[in-house]
Amino acid sequence: MLSSGVPEQIAPPDDSTAVGTGKGGVGKSTVAAHLAAASAESGKRTLLICVTGQDDDDLGIKSHNRGDQPPGDSALDGQGLYKAIHDRVPLQPIREVRPNLDVLPGGPRVAEVRDLLLMRALKEGPGVALSLARSLAPIAPLYDRVLFDSAPEDDTLEQLVLAATRNLVVPTRSDGSSIRGMDRISKNFWTVKNAVNPALRLAGVFLYASNPNATVMHDAVREEVRETLGSGIAILESIVGYREVPARRARKKGLTFGEYAALLPQAASVADVKAGRAKEEDMVPPSTPGLAKEMSQLTDEIFERCARGVA
Ligand SMILES: Nc1ncnc2c1ncn2[C@@H]1O[C@H](COP(=O)(O)OP(=O)(O)OP(=O)(O)O)[C@@H](O)[C@H]1O
Ligand SMILES: [Mg+2]
Repeated sequence: MLSSGVPEQIAPPDDSTAVGTGKGGVGKSTVAAHLAAASAESGKRTLLICVTGQDDDDLGIKSHNRGDQPPGDSALDGQGLYKAIHDRVPLQPIREVRPNLDVLPGGPRVAEVRDLLLMRALKEGPGVALSLARSLAPIAPLYDRVLFDSAPEDDTLEQLVLAATRNLVVPTRSDGSSIRGMDRISKNFWTVKNAVNPALRLAGVFLYASNPNATVMHDAVREEVRETLGSGIAILESIVGYREVPARRARKKGLTFGEYAALLPQAASVADVKAGRAKEEDMVPPSTPGLAKEMSQLTDEIFERCARGVA
């Protein structure tokens, strides 16, 4: 979509952060949803924009009917994002998904956003990369903070997000393919920064879903990240452990890890399950509070790092 600079520039919101990396399944959507929920809980008016073809519904918007739909067409399944970009109008998010939190959910229609932009780029040139920034600008003053979830392995959608945000944070798992996936975001980062969004900055990289005690391996991963993204890259200290069961169950319930952990005292016990009074999925795994705590440390560190204004 982007090849050279465009005359128009739109300053991204001061406090805006995208979670992105070229690789799929590394934790982008989980972390973006938790950043948004933590921000809203701290009292900041927060907007989460999910530029993803897959709606993981971490906040239970669809599965638990949370939030108030905007008037007119549904904003679910990526339709809100598609409509705003297609009609060149301001974004209309789902309101109050949590107190202080509005969301534009992702979903299948986001794939059509990509097709639309590629078609428009032929006629209108590289300025189409600013389509999301343009639809966001009129409503951005309503929010203290804007967060973006992004799609993997799609340059057009990645550039669309990078053109609308000030900060980028990059999750990685410890495997080589996650680290190689950073090459793509790194290329898109520089393309967008040079062409349309000079304010864009790489706030940091963090290891996600890894055993926090595997410190020797983490040092090796950090070294590989520096080789890929440059020696000056900030690598965050917080590491959220690999805890598949509570992560999946929380998502299924449309709850953040913290909200899910809060159910633990009232949840079914092993004895209840053994006695047939409850099902396995009614139990909240005992590892959930630990997962919630690690996520909270990570979201705090990301906000702190973005506030520092790294170059
Ligand atoms: N701490 C964790 N430990 C283990 N599994 C996790 C953890 N956090 C999230 N997961 C699970 O990992 C999977 C991938 O997470 P997620 O959807 O956030 O990644 P993604 O980068 O957004 O993926 P995609 O590229 O497909 O959009 C999901 O099934 C999620 O429930
Ligand atoms: Mg995702």
